Amino acid sequence: MKVFIIGASGLVGSHCLAHFKEQGWTVKGSHCNFTTDTTCYYNTLQPHSDQNFDVVSFGPEVIVHCAALTNVDYCEKNEKESYENTLESTRHVCELAIKCGARVVYISTDYVFDGNSGPYQENDAPNPINVYGKHKFLAEQLVRTSVIDSLVLRVTNVYGDEARGKNFVARIIQHCHQKQPICLKLPYDQFATPINANDIARAMFILLSDKKAGIYHLASTDYMNRVELGRRTLSYFPDAEFMSIEPVDSTTMKQTATRPLVGGLLKVKFATEYPTFVFNSVDNYLSSTTKTSISIRENKT
Ligand SMILES: NC(=O)c1ccc[n+]([C@@H]2O[C@H](COP(=O)([O-])OP(=O)(O)OC[C@H]3O[C@@H](n4cnc5c(N)ncnc54)[C@H](OP(=O)(O)O)[C@@H]3O)[C@@H](O)[C@H]2O)c1
Repeated sequence: MKVFIIGASGLVGSHCLAHFKEQGWTVKGSHCNFTTDTTCYYNTLQPHSDQNFDVVSFGPEVIVHCAALTNVDYCEKNEKESYENTLESTRHVCELAIKCGARVVYISTDYVFDGNSGPYQENDAPNPINVYGKHKFLAEQLVRTSVIDSLVLRVTNVYGDEARGKNFVARIIQHCHQKQPICLKLPYDQFATPINANDIARAMFILLSDKKAGIYHLASTDYMNRVELGRRTLSYFPDAEFMSIEPVDSTTMKQTATRPLVGGLLKVKFATEYPTFVFNSVDNYLSSTTKTSISIRENKT
Protein backbone atom coordinates (compact mmCIF):
# COMPACT_ATOMS: atom_id res chain seq x y z
CA MET A 1 0.00 0.00 0.00
CA LYS A 2 1.23 3.52 -0.81
CA VAL A 3 0.28 6.06 1.87
CA PHE A 4 0.83 9.78 2.44
CA ILE A 5 0.45 10.89 6.06
CA ILE A 6 -0.19 14.60 6.59
CA GLY A 7 0.90 15.63 10.10
CA ALA A 8 3.47 12.87 10.63
CA SER A 9 5.51 15.15 12.92
CA GLY A 10 2.67 14.92 15.45
CA LEU A 11 1.59 12.30 17.95
CA VAL A 12 -0.81 10.15 15.90
CA GLY A 13 0.86 10.66 12.51
CA SER A 14 4.36 9.75 13.73
CA HIS A 15 3.11 6.40 15.06
CA CYS A 16 1.28 5.70 11.78
CA LEU A 17 4.44 6.53 9.81
CA ALA A 18 6.61 4.22 11.91
CA HIS A 19 4.10 1.34 12.04
CA PHE A 20 3.21 1.36 8.33
CA LYS A 21 6.92 1.40 7.42
CA GLU A 22 7.57 -1.54 9.77
CA GLN A 23 4.76 -3.43 8.03
CA GLY A 24 6.43 -2.87 4.64
CA TRP A 25 4.13 -0.22 3.14
CA THR A 26 5.53 2.61 1.00
CA VAL A 27 4.94 5.63 3.19
CA LYS A 28 5.73 9.34 3.12
CA GLY A 29 4.85 11.59 6.04
CA SER A 30 4.83 15.35 6.34
CA HIS A 31 5.52 18.08 8.85
CA CYS A 32 4.48 21.71 8.69
CA ASN A 33 6.41 23.80 11.28
CA PHE A 34 8.20 21.08 13.22
CA THR A 35 10.84 19.65 10.87
CA THR A 36 11.90 16.05 11.48
CA ASP A 37 14.45 13.75 9.83
CA THR A 38 11.76 11.39 8.59
CA THR A 39 9.24 13.83 7.12
CA CYS A 40 8.82 16.19 4.16
CA TYR A 41 7.12 19.61 4.14
CA TYR A 42 3.42 19.90 3.35
CA ASN A 43 1.05 22.71 4.35
CA THR A 44 -2.65 21.97 3.89
CA LEU A 45 -3.50 25.67 4.07
CA GLN A 46 -1.32 26.40 1.03
CA PRO A 47 -2.07 23.53 -1.32
CA HIS A 48 -0.48 25.24 -4.33
CA SER A 49 2.81 26.15 -2.65
CA ASP A 50 5.95 25.08 -4.58
CA GLN A 51 7.50 24.10 -1.26
CA ASN A 52 4.99 21.33 -0.69
CA PHE A 53 5.99 17.72 -1.26
CA ASP A 54 4.69 16.63 -4.69
CA VAL A 55 1.93 14.30 -3.49
CA VAL A 56 0.37 13.78 -6.93
CA SER A 57 3.68 12.45 -8.35
CA PHE A 58 4.09 10.21 -5.31
CA GLY A 59 0.63 8.78 -6.13
CA PRO A 60 -0.74 7.58 -2.78
CA GLU A 61 -3.64 5.13 -2.60
CA VAL A 62 -4.47 6.55 0.84
CA ILE A 63 -4.01 9.97 2.46
CA VAL A 64 -4.08 9.94 6.27
CA HIS A 65 -5.11 13.42 7.42
CA CYS A 66 -3.73 14.17 10.91
CA ALA A 67 -3.16 17.91 10.37
CA ALA A 68 -5.06 19.87 12.96
CA LEU A 69 -5.29 22.74 15.38
CA THR A 70 -5.84 20.72 18.55
CA ASN A 71 -5.82 23.42 21.24
CA VAL A 72 -9.51 23.43 22.17
CA ASP A 73 -9.45 26.73 24.10
CA TYR A 74 -7.47 28.47 21.35
CA CYS A 75 -10.07 27.29 18.80
CA GLU A 76 -12.84 28.71 20.97
CA LYS A 77 -11.16 32.12 21.06
CA ASN A 78 -10.09 32.07 17.40
CA GLU A 79 -13.05 30.67 15.53
CA LYS A 80 -11.90 31.81 12.07
CA GLU A 81 -8.48 30.21 12.52
CA SER A 82 -10.12 27.04 13.78
CA TYR A 83 -12.40 27.02 10.72
CA GLU A 84 -9.43 27.43 8.38
CA ASN A 85 -7.26 24.85 10.13
CA THR A 86 -10.02 22.27 10.36
CA LEU A 87 -12.54 22.89 7.57
CA GLU A 88 -10.50 24.64 4.88
CA SER A 89 -7.53 22.38 5.55
CA THR A 90 -9.74 19.30 5.19
CA ARG A 91 -11.35 20.63 2.02
CA HIS A 92 -7.88 20.97 0.47
CA VAL A 93 -6.96 17.45 1.58
CA CYS A 94 -10.14 16.07 -0.02
CA GLU A 95 -9.36 17.89 -3.28
CA LEU A 96 -5.85 16.47 -3.22
CA ALA A 97 -7.19 12.96 -2.57
CA ILE A 98 -9.65 13.22 -5.45
CA LYS A 99 -6.80 14.34 -7.74
CA CYS A 100 -4.73 11.33 -6.65
CA GLY A 101 -7.64 8.87 -6.67
CA ALA A 102 -6.80 8.18 -3.01
CA ARG A 103 -9.01 7.27 -0.06
CA VAL A 104 -8.85 9.56 3.01
CA VAL A 105 -8.53 8.65 6.68
CA TYR A 106 -9.71 11.48 8.91
CA ILE A 107 -8.92 11.48 12.63
CA SER A 108 -11.77 12.86 14.70
CA THR A 109 -12.74 13.06 18.34
CA ASP A 110 -15.34 12.37 21.05
CA TYR A 111 -15.76 16.17 21.18
CA VAL A 112 -18.35 15.73 18.40
CA PHE A 113 -20.62 14.58 21.28
CA ASP A 114 -22.07 16.73 24.06
CA GLY A 115 -20.72 14.63 26.94
CA ASN A 116 -24.08 14.16 28.64
CA SER A 117 -24.10 10.37 28.37
CA GLY A 118 -20.79 8.92 27.20
CA PRO A 119 -19.00 6.77 26.39
CA TYR A 120 -20.46 6.93 22.90
CA GLN A 121 -21.04 4.35 20.18
CA GLU A 122 -20.64 4.99 16.46
CA ASN A 123 -24.40 5.37 15.91
CA ASP A 124 -24.97 7.87 18.75
CA ALA A 125 -26.02 11.32 17.54
CA PRO A 126 -23.27 13.97 17.56
CA ASN A 127 -24.05 17.27 19.25
CA PRO A 128 -20.82 19.28 19.63
CA ILE A 129 -20.78 21.93 22.34
CA ASN A 130 -17.62 23.87 21.48
CA VAL A 131 -15.98 25.36 18.37
CA TYR A 132 -13.34 22.62 18.05
CA GLY A 133 -16.01 19.89 18.24
CA LYS A 134 -18.30 21.67 15.76
CA HIS A 135 -15.51 22.08 13.23
CA LYS A 136 -14.32 18.48 13.65
CA PHE A 137 -17.88 17.26 13.05
CA LEU A 138 -18.23 19.41 9.91
CA ALA A 139 -14.85 18.13 8.68
CA GLU A 140 -15.99 14.51 9.22
CA GLN A 141 -19.05 15.17 7.08
CA LEU A 142 -16.98 16.88 4.40
CA VAL A 143 -14.63 13.91 4.13
CA ARG A 144 -17.46 11.38 4.07
CA THR A 145 -19.47 13.21 1.42
CA SER A 146 -16.63 14.19 -0.88
CA VAL A 147 -14.24 11.22 -0.92
CA ILE A 148 -15.49 7.73 -1.75
CA ASP A 149 -14.67 4.99 0.77
CA SER A 150 -13.24 7.44 3.29
CA LEU A 151 -12.62 6.37 6.86
CA VAL A 152 -13.29 8.48 9.97
CA LEU A 153 -11.57 7.28 13.12
CA ARG A 154 -12.71 8.93 16.34
CA VAL A 155 -10.25 8.86 19.25
CA THR A 156 -9.73 10.78 22.48
CA ASN A 157 -7.06 11.39 25.15
CA VAL A 158 -4.24 10.07 22.98
CA TYR A 159 -0.96 9.32 24.76
CA GLY A 160 2.34 7.69 23.81
CA ASP A 161 5.92 8.42 22.89
CA GLU A 162 6.30 11.58 20.80
CA ALA A 163 9.17 13.86 19.80
CA ARG A 164 7.73 16.90 21.60
CA GLY A 165 6.20 15.02 24.55
CA LYS A 166 3.13 17.30 24.53
CA ASN A 167 0.43 14.79 25.48
CA PHE A 168 -0.98 14.76 29.02
CA VAL A 169 0.71 11.54 30.18
CA ALA A 170 4.05 12.46 28.57
CA ARG A 171 4.02 15.88 30.26
CA ILE A 172 3.50 14.33 33.71
CA ILE A 173 6.33 11.87 33.03
CA GLN A 174 8.58 14.78 32.00
CA HIS A 175 7.79 16.67 35.22
CA CYS A 176 8.71 13.52 37.19
CA HIS A 177 12.03 13.13 35.38
CA GLN A 178 12.84 16.83 35.71
CA LYS A 179 11.91 16.74 39.42
CA GLN A 180 9.87 19.96 39.06
CA PRO A 181 7.77 20.55 42.19
CA ILE A 182 4.28 21.17 40.91
CA CYS A 183 0.64 20.87 41.95
CA LEU A 184 -1.58 19.97 39.02
CA LYS A 185 -5.18 21.14 39.24
CA LEU A 186 -7.12 18.50 37.32
CA PRO A 187 -10.85 18.10 36.72
CA TYR A 188 -12.43 15.06 38.37
CA ASP A 189 -15.58 15.40 36.28
CA GLN A 190 -14.14 15.04 32.73
CA PHE A 191 -14.25 11.37 31.70
CA ALA A 192 -12.77 9.82 28.57
CA THR A 193 -11.18 6.71 27.11
CA PRO A 194 -7.40 7.23 26.84
CA ILE A 195 -5.78 5.47 23.90
CA ASN A 196 -2.18 4.69 22.98
CA ALA A 197 -1.14 6.35 19.68
CA ASN A 198 0.53 3.12 18.58
CA ASP A 199 -2.80 1.28 18.89
CA ILE A 200 -4.42 3.85 16.59
CA ALA A 201 -1.72 3.07 14.00
CA ARG A 202 -2.19 -0.72 14.44
CA ALA A 203 -5.98 -0.48 14.13
CA MET A 204 -5.76 1.86 11.14
CA PHE A 205 -3.37 -0.53 9.40
CA ILE A 206 -5.90 -3.37 9.69
CA LEU A 207 -8.85 -1.23 8.61
CA LEU A 208 -6.97 0.05 5.57
CA SER A 209 -5.72 -3.42 4.65
CA ASP A 210 -9.33 -4.64 4.72
CA LYS A 211 -10.52 -1.59 2.73
CA LYS A 212 -12.99 -0.57 5.44
CA ALA A 213 -14.92 2.69 5.17
CA GLY A 214 -17.22 4.74 7.41
CA ILE A 215 -16.96 5.79 11.05
CA TYR A 216 -15.10 3.72 13.65
CA HIS A 217 -14.51 4.53 17.30
CA LEU A 218 -11.17 3.40 18.71
CA ALA A 219 -10.57 2.98 22.46
CA SER A 220 -9.07 0.60 24.94
CA THR A 221 -11.01 -0.62 27.98
CA ASP A 222 -9.65 2.27 30.13
CA TYR A 223 -12.34 4.73 31.17
CA MET A 224 -11.16 7.41 33.57
CA ASN A 225 -11.26 11.04 34.50
CA ARG A 226 -8.24 13.36 34.38
CA VAL A 227 -7.50 12.97 38.09
CA GLU A 228 -7.46 9.17 37.77
CA LEU A 229 -5.25 9.33 34.68
CA GLY A 230 -2.86 11.73 36.43
CA ARG A 231 -2.73 9.62 39.60
CA ARG A 232 -2.26 6.42 37.61
CA THR A 233 0.72 8.01 35.84
CA LEU A 234 2.24 9.29 39.09
CA SER A 235 1.83 5.84 40.69
CA TYR A 236 4.69 4.66 38.44
CA PHE A 237 6.95 7.33 39.96
CA PRO A 238 6.89 6.61 43.72
CA ASP A 239 9.81 9.03 44.27
CA ALA A 240 7.92 11.95 42.75
CA GLU A 241 6.70 13.31 46.09
CA PHE A 242 7.41 16.80 44.76
CA MET A 243 4.34 16.40 42.50
CA SER A 244 0.75 16.51 43.66
CA ILE A 245 -2.70 16.55 42.15
CA GLU A 246 -5.57 18.72 43.31
CA PRO A 247 -8.93 17.44 42.03
CA VAL A 248 -11.14 20.34 40.93
CA ASP A 249 -14.55 20.87 39.42
CA SER A 250 -14.50 21.83 35.71
CA THR A 251 -16.42 25.02 36.50
CA THR A 252 -13.56 26.27 38.69
CA MET A 253 -11.01 25.75 35.91
CA LYS A 254 -12.40 28.59 33.78
CA GLN A 255 -11.50 26.78 30.56
CA THR A 256 -12.59 28.94 27.61
CA ALA A 257 -14.26 26.07 25.75
CA THR A 258 -16.98 24.05 27.45
CA ARG A 259 -15.87 20.43 27.76
CA PRO A 260 -18.03 17.36 27.16
CA LEU A 261 -17.90 15.89 30.67
CA VAL A 262 -19.11 12.31 30.40
CA GLY A 263 -17.27 11.66 27.14
CA GLY A 264 -15.22 8.79 25.78
CA LEU A 265 -15.82 6.23 23.07
CA LEU A 266 -17.02 2.64 22.76
CA LYS A 267 -15.38 0.74 19.91
CA VAL A 268 -18.46 -1.38 19.20
CA LYS A 269 -17.99 -1.70 15.44
CA PHE A 270 -14.25 -2.35 15.59
CA ALA A 271 -14.53 -4.89 18.41
CA THR A 272 -17.29 -6.74 16.56
CA GLU A 273 -15.27 -6.95 13.35
CA TYR A 274 -11.90 -7.62 15.05
CA PRO A 275 -12.68 -9.47 18.31
CA THR A 276 -9.10 -10.71 18.80
CA PHE A 277 -7.43 -7.29 18.47
CA VAL A 278 -5.92 -6.29 21.82
CA PHE A 279 -5.63 -2.61 22.75
CA ASN A 280 -2.99 -1.63 25.30
CA SER A 281 -4.00 -0.11 28.61
CA VAL A 282 -2.48 2.94 30.27
CA ASP A 283 -0.83 0.50 32.71
CA ASN A 284 0.79 -1.45 29.86
CA TYR A 285 2.28 1.77 28.51
CA LEU A 286 3.41 3.17 31.85
CA SER A 287 5.03 -0.06 33.00
CA SER A 288 6.94 -0.47 29.74
CA THR A 289 7.98 3.18 29.49
CA THR A 290 9.16 3.37 33.11
CA LYS A 291 11.13 0.10 32.71
CA THR A 292 12.82 1.53 29.60
CA SER A 293 13.77 4.77 31.33
CA ILE A 294 15.10 2.92 34.40
CA SER A 295 17.32 0.72 32.21
CA ILE A 296 18.56 3.79 30.25
CA ARG A 297 19.46 5.50 33.58
CA GLU A 298 21.17 2.33 34.86
CA ASN A 299 23.19 1.99 31.65
CA LYS A 300 24.37 5.59 32.00
CA THR A 301 25.67 5.09 35.56
N1 LIG B 1 -4.20 14.04 20.75
C1 LIG B 1 -5.43 13.76 21.11
O1 LIG B 1 -5.72 13.48 22.29
C2 LIG B 1 -6.53 13.74 20.08
C3 LIG B 1 -7.84 13.45 20.52
C4 LIG B 1 -8.86 13.42 19.59
C5 LIG B 1 -8.60 13.67 18.25
N2 LIG B 1 -7.34 13.97 17.85
C6 LIG B 1 -7.13 14.25 16.43
O2 LIG B 1 -6.07 13.45 15.95
C7 LIG B 1 -5.38 14.16 14.90
C8 LIG B 1 -3.90 14.15 15.18
O3 LIG B 1 -3.70 14.77 16.45
P1 LIG B 1 -2.29 14.75 17.19
O4 LIG B 1 -2.55 14.59 18.63
O5 LIG B 1 -1.36 13.83 16.50
O6 LIG B 1 -1.88 16.26 16.95
P2 LIG B 1 -0.42 16.92 16.92
O7 LIG B 1 0.54 16.08 17.66
O8 LIG B 1 -0.62 18.34 17.33
O9 LIG B 1 -0.07 16.87 15.38
C9 LIG B 1 -0.72 17.69 14.46
C10 LIG B 1 0.01 17.58 13.16
O10 LIG B 1 -0.62 18.43 12.21
C11 LIG B 1 0.38 19.14 11.52
N3 LIG B 1 -0.19 20.37 10.99
C12 LIG B 1 -0.74 21.39 11.67
N4 LIG B 1 -1.15 22.34 10.80
C13 LIG B 1 -0.84 21.88 9.56
C14 LIG B 1 -1.02 22.41 8.26
N5 LIG B 1 -1.60 23.60 8.04
N6 LIG B 1 -0.59 21.68 7.21
C15 LIG B 1 -0.02 20.47 7.40
N7 LIG B 1 0.19 19.93 8.60
C16 LIG B 1 -0.23 20.63 9.68
C17 LIG B 1 1.45 19.39 12.56
O11 LIG B 1 2.67 19.69 11.93
P3 LIG B 1 3.85 20.56 12.67
O12 LIG B 1 3.77 20.23 14.11
O13 LIG B 1 5.09 20.11 11.97
O14 LIG B 1 3.53 22.01 12.40
C18 LIG B 1 1.48 18.02 13.24
O15 LIG B 1 2.26 17.13 12.50
C19 LIG B 1 -6.01 15.56 14.88
O16 LIG B 1 -6.97 15.61 13.85
C20 LIG B 1 -6.71 15.69 16.21
O17 LIG B 1 -7.83 16.54 16.14
C21 LIG B 1 -6.30 14.00 18.74
